[in-house]
Amino acid sequence: TASPVQAYRAGLLHFHADPAFAEHAHAWHEDGLLVVADGKVVAAGDYAHLAATLPPGTPVADYRGKVITPGFIDAHVHYPQTDMIASPAPGLLPWLEQYTFPTERAFADPAHAAGVAEFFLDELLRCGTTTALVYATVHPQSVDAFFTASEARGLRMIAGKVLMDRNCPDFLCDTAEQGARETEELIRRWHKRGRSLYAITPRFAPTSTEAQMALAGELARAYPDTYLQTHVSENEDECRWVKQLYPEARSYLDVYDRYGMLRPRAVFGHCIWLDEADRARMAETRAAAAVCPTSNLFLGSGLFDFERADRAGMLMALATDVGAGTSFSMLQTMNEAYKVARLKGSYLPALRMFYLSTLGAARSLHLDDTIGSFAAGCEADFVVLDPQATPLLARRTANTDSLEELLFALALLGDDRAIAATYSAGRLVHARQA
Ligand code: GUN
Ligand code: FE
Repeated sequence: TASPVQAYRAGLLHFHADPAFAEHAHAWHEDGLLVVADGKVVAAGDYAHLAATLPPGTPVADYRGKVITPGFIDAHVHYPQTDMIASPAPGLLPWLEQYTFPTERAFADPAHAAGVAEFFLDELLRCGTTTALVYATVHPQSVDAFFTASEARGLRMIAGKVLMDRNCPDFLCDTAEQGARETEELIRRWHKRGRSLYAITPRFAPTSTEAQMALAGELARAYPDTYLQTHVSENEDECRWVKQLYPEARSYLDVYDRYGMLRPRAVFGHCIWLDEADRARMAETRAAAAVCPTSNLFLGSGLFDFERADRAGMLMALATDVGAGTSFSMLQTMNEAYKVARLKGSYLPALRMFYLSTLGAARSLHLDDTIGSFAAGCEADFVVLDPQATPLLARRTANTDSLEELLFALALLGDDRAIAATYSAGRLVHARQA
């Protein structure tokens, strides 16, 4: 019979969840041990210190030479857009018309939705992502398909049905009342069932009537422990359109604010064209920004301003935004985030980027007592990174003793190949082929 305790020996990187530590204070155990039981973290520390505390006969997986970190968290991704990743279009609005809406149409078919959900989850796990904040389509069956697949694998996932009742093709249109009713049914069916969590999901202000926005805001108030996800201030044409549709609002973000959508567990994708008043509102309401650099560069949307977001005290997390994002890999997302920051004159250390993909993301989701760190009692979602994954990575990481340089090389040169294994709730859910 399997031992109830499992241990993993590797370099161990995590961030201190205890608020007594500085915000992204990290812990690094070069010869570390992660101890897991019943799907939860028991302890994380130096091998030399912890090995003696293991019950006799505890299996120790030997990952020496590799680095274990908490599983990555992708704070904004569209599972139905998996099959249209890397579709060329001159900007957000033409891309939505030409590719996104026709692709999402097929999710009326539950069998199609189930097949894409399985591929999507395989791909997340191959990339070391153990939690994601996921958009489905307007079809409630697309949410059922997604949660059915993620629940079968025991994953901690957050997802919701898209609400859209105007400015979209008839085949993707709900109505304010229908969308709210379906959302409430899905909350009752899925929210907090196992590891599933629900996100109220108005697509973005242009595709919802004021009646739909009002009902989404009411649901956000009625179910304060659900998530809310949407897009804001991504693209300049989109911002101009919102100004025409909602002339009374002070800003694009203010449209959501007026409907009561700025609250903890509300996650706003992009946040590129915010002004200082918007940033202050984000910070004071404890809503979070999902920063999507591969998407923003791909569509030419703009450059996220990390420095201004920091100065305002905004919560933020990195995100892929696939299908506008060009990679499922949070390592590749860090690579592009680094360059976006450079173009804005700021600088993102690798440690900060790993923080923004683990504990920082968990804090943005108000889930830091559950995932994102190796504090005792956290769910044992973790990833085994391989600094020797490619000849170039091996060569670059062989000639440094610096943790920052090691992580930076993984972020800049790594992708799915650098993920040797992924574990969810202490179970192996991906092992790279040799
Ligand atoms: N704005 C509204 N819908 C979408 C979408 O599907 N992707 C992106 N990147 N932006 C959006
Ligand atoms: Fe998006």
